Amino acid sequence: MPAITLVGAQWGDEGKGKATDLVGNRVDYVVRYQGGNNAGHTVVIGDQKYALHLLPSGILSPDVVPVIANGVVIDPGVLFEELRGLRERGVNTERLLVSANAHLIMPYHRALDKVTERFLGKRQIGTTGRGIGPTYADKISRTGIRVQDMFDPKILRQKLELALHDKNQILTKVFNRRGLEVDQVFEEYTGYAEELRPYVADTSLILNRALDEGRTVYLEGSQGTLLDIDHGTYPFVTSSSPTAGGACAGAGIGPTRITKVVGILKAYTTRVGSGPFPTELHDEWGEWLRQKGGEYGVTTGRNRRCGWFDAPIARYATRVNGITDFFLTKLDVLSGLERVPVCVGYDVNGTRHDEIPMTQTDFHHAVPVYEYLDGWNEDISHARTFEELPKTAQTYVRTLEEMVGAPVSAIGVGPGRDQTLELRSLV
Ligand code: GDP
Ligand code: IMO
Ligand code: MG
Repeated sequence: MPAITLVGAQWGDEGKGKATDLVGNRVDYVVRYQGGNNAGHTVVIGDQKYALHLLPSGILSPDVVPVIANGVVIDPGVLFEELRGLRERGVNTERLLVSANAHLIMPYHRALDKVTERFLGKRQIGTTGRGIGPTYADKISRTGIRVQDMFDPKILRQKLELALHDKNQILTKVFNRRGLEVDQVFEEYTGYAEELRPYVADTSLILNRALDEGRTVYLEGSQGTLLDIDHGTYPFVTSSSPTAGGACAGAGIGPTRITKVVGILKAYTTRVGSGPFPTELHDEWGEWLRQKGGEYGVTTGRNRRCGWFDAPIARYATRVNGITDFFLTKLDVLSGLERVPVCVGYDVNGTRHDEIPMTQTDFHHAVPVYEYLDGWNEDISHARTFEELPKTAQTYVRTLEEMVGAPVSAIGVGPGRDQTLELRSLV
C-alpha cells in the first residue's frame, strides 16, 4: 500500500500543516523526514490553532501514529516542551515514535548557528537560529550525536568530548564566546534520555512493515523545494533535503513505495530569510499580501517577504519532486484584485528564460515577465466546490495548472480544516 509524500513547492510556509491535517483521518502514519524545529506548521481546527515545529502535524489526528524519522534533527528540550504544550491542551501524545538514528541538536550547534550568522552580517542566510545547519554539518562530518547515543553514557561522553574539543576552540578563539563544559552538556542530555526512551524505536522497520501490511504512510515534508540543500537557492537554503527524494533517505523506505507526491503551492509566493526571490514586491502590494495573508513567520515571527505567483518555480518543483498532485492554498487571499499578475518567465540581462536559470548569478538578476489574469472580488472563503468559485478564479486555477505541469487536486480558501475544495482525493 502507498506511501504518499507531501512537499513544499516554493520557499516553505505553503500550508503543509493544514494539508497534512486534512488527510489525518485517512492515513495511518504521519512522518517527519527532515528538518527540525526550524519548521512552523499551522493547523486550525475549529477555534483552536496549533503551531507545530518538530512534531508531525499528524499528532493532532487521534488515530494516526506520528513519527519523527531518522532524517530529522531533534532538540530534546524543544521536543519535550512541544509535547507538554499539546498535552496541556488535551492532545494525546503517547503514540509518538522517534528514530534511534535521528541526530541531536546540541547547545553548541545553536551557539554556532547564531555566531556564524552574526559574523556574516549583511551576507547572513537569515536562519531560524535553531542550530539546524551546524547539526547537519556534524552529521555529514561523522561527528554528530544520535538519539541512541543518549542511552550509552560511555559513548555519549566520548562523542561529546570529541565534539567539544573542536567546538570550544571555534567558539572561544574564532568567535570570542564562552566554551561549554562536557560535564554540563552530558548531564543535560542524560537527563533527557529517560524521558525520550518510551518513544524511541526502529522507525524504518516499523514503517516498512506497516506498508507491507497495507497501511498508508504519509511523509510530511518541512521547508520547501527552493530551500533544499541540493535543489534550492544555495547557499540561501536549509541544510536538509525537503524534496521527495529526501523522503526516502529520511524515513528509511525505498522509492518504489511512494505512489503519490503532493506539492503544496501558495496562490502567490513568500519567503523568509535572505536569497533571491524574483517576484518579491517591495511596494504596497507586498504589504497588501502580507496583511491579507497573515504572512508572519510561525517560528521566528519575522515578516515574510511576499510576491506574485511564479510559474517557473512551481514547474521546477514538479520536475525535481515528480509531483503528481498540487494543493493550491490561499486562493482566498487574492480576492479583490482587478488583475492578478503571474510570472511566466524571466528576463536576465536581455535574454528570456522560461525556466529557472542554470546559475545562481543569473537567478539573482532575473526580472519577472508577467501575464495578467482577470481577478475576482467575491469572498470565496465559504466556497466548498470548484463550481462555487467565481469564473475568473476558476480560470486562474486552470491556467496555473497548465503552467505547473500537474493537476490541482485541492484548493485552500481559508485556514480552517473545512475550508478546502478537494477535487480529487489527496490520498
Ligand atoms: P507550513 O509551514 O507549510 O505548514 O505553513 P505555515 O503554517 O507556516 O503558513 C501557512 C499559513 O497559512 C498558516 O497560518 C495557515 O493557517 C494558513 N493557511 C493555510 N491554508 C490556507 C488557505 O487556503 N487560506 C488562508 N487564508 N490561509 C491558509
Ligand atoms: P516550514 O516547514 C520558511 C529558512 C530560514 C532561512 C533558511 C535556513 O514552516 O515551511 P535554517 O534555520 O533552516 O538553517 O534556515 O531556511 N527556513 C524556512 N522558511 N519556512 C520554513 O519551514 C523554514 N525553515 C527554514 O528562514 O532562510
Ligand atoms: Mg511554516
